[in-house]
Amino acid sequence: MVNASEIHTLMAGASLTDEQLLASYSVADRSVPWLRANFISSIDGAATHEGTSGGLGTDADGRVFALLRRLADVIVVGAGTVRQEGYRNLALDDEAVAWRTANGLSAQPPFAVVSASLRLEPNDLASYATRPFIITTESASEQARARVEKVAEIIIAGDTSVDTVELKHALAERGYPQLHSEGGPTLFATMIAEGVVDELCLTLSPRLEGGSARRIVDAAEATPQDMALAQALSGADGTLLLRYVRAAR
Ligand SMILES: NC(=O)c1ccc[n+]([C@@H]2O[C@H](COP(=O)([O-])OP(=O)(O)OC[C@H]3O[C@@H](n4cnc5c(N)ncnc54)[C@H](OP(=O)(O)O)[C@@H]3O)[C@@H](O)[C@H]2O)c1
Repeated sequence: MVNASEIHTLMAGASLTDEQLLASYSVADRSVPWLRANFISSIDGAATHEGTSGGLGTDADGRVFALLRRLADVIVVGAGTVRQEGYRNLALDDEAVAWRTANGLSAQPPFAVVSASLRLEPNDLASYATRPFIITTESASEQARARVEKVAEIIIAGDTSVDTVELKHALAERGYPQLHSEGGPTLFATMIAEGVVDELCLTLSPRLEGGSARRIVDAAEATPQDMALAQALSGADGTLLLRYVRAAR
């Protein structure tokens, strides 16, 4: 019987263990700031199914998604994704915590939520395993700030919208150089435009979605950046797990 979460290299067809997967997604030097973005898309380019990415998910994607969280110093996410996907009670499982601790990482990586409006639910933020960061702007309302400040640490990065160069710098400065971004398309657009994306882990879900779903980036202007394929894995369920890194200039 086929194990749906089994993952093979495209070339050799060997099934990879979690340790092998973790090693394959590890960076050479964790002290160098690095922003990894992670997305899933249908093969016809849809980033959502009925409004969330979860509907595109596969077993192989779920497995790698969890392993990538395990490797992060901090998990960055836009407020739209937090609201739409209902981010609450966020915690890595016991196996991940044991692995992180054994590898010299904090037990749980904090989340860093990017928001200009600060339209975030304090009770949800308080339910995360560690006190989150909220990355916002100079112009955020004092009142909204006071609401979330009780449950989160505020970082100001930009005047009216969050500058992702400042975001990356501010998190590295606080001891979180390995950034794992879970999107979504609005935040990713800014990251691409501001040139901070070092890596994209893109899962292709083996389905045609049709319809008018958004893609993984949502921007008015094109800001092209060449990327190099660093790894391509395939799940037994037909999922493709692609890892692209910034192309050498
Ligand atoms: N396919 C995938 O892998 C994937 C991954 C993630 C999300 N998604 C999907 O994407 C959809 C959400 O899209 P989205 O574009 O709303 O996601 P998003 O980028 O997570 O959220 C957008 C919101 O984040 C804040 N934000 C983003 N960039 C900002 C910046 N530079 N400065 C200040 N605030 C910033 C703003 O929040 P405020 O409004 O609070 O100011 C903005 O309204 C959901 O349906 C989700 O399921 C798909």
